[in-house]
Amino acid sequence: MHKVVILSGSPNSSSRLNGMTNYIRQTLSEAGFQTAAIHVVDLPPEDLVYTRFNSPHIIAANELIDQADAVIVASPVYKASFTGVLKAYIDLLPQKGFEGKIITPVFIAGSMAHLLAIDYSLKPVLASMGARQYTKSVYATDSAVTREQLESGEYIFTLDADTQTRLSETVKELTKYLQ
Ligand SMILES: Cc1cc2nc3c(=O)[nH]c(=O)nc-3n(C[C@H](O)[C@H](O)[C@H](O)COP(=O)(O)O)c2cc1C
Repeated sequence: MHKVVILSGSPNSSSRLNGMTNYIRQTLSEAGFQTAAIHVVDLPPEDLVYTRFNSPHIIAANELIDQADAVIVASPVYKASFTGVLKAYIDLLPQKGFEGKIITPVFIAGSMAHLLAIDYSLKPVLASMGARQYTKSVYATDSAVTREQLESGEYIFTLDADTQTRLSETVKELTKYLQ
């Protein structure tokens, strides 16, 4: 069974980005793919700050990437790029950690101004680590994802129709590559 890992780089555990990654994960599961998620915000901060290659948490996350056929690289735009904490985790992957994997970039941002962050900021880093094959990227703005907190404290996210369509089309493209 093909494995897809969602690597999510938001430092905010209730980020609207989760609305997009949850949607992708559910769509992939329904299509019969095995999925796993790495949320960098859940990794020990000291491991990221001190670049602890031998941390069991980092080793476990890296194994998920190693075993994946495809990686959804998801991030909010921070300062016209992907987040620093995502880069801190990527620095802990092997030099060719993305070789042979299909990559789907998924970004959320305050505005459309930094749409090219995927091409100018993320892709050169992934290319240096062996990534060669991409599906279409999905870039949405905050207004595309409604975030609501329930009394239980849990967050639910609702995507607008355009974002749902674009994510579904990208998952379909990924599915074709994987089959
Ligand atoms: C430190 C920081 C830097 C940001 N830089 C940008 C930026 O350069 N361009 C942009 O469009 N949005 C930027 N944003 C907005 C976020 O990309 C956007 O709000 C994102 O969806 C995070 O929202 P969240 O609260 O749902 O995680 C920035 C937000 C933060 C906190």
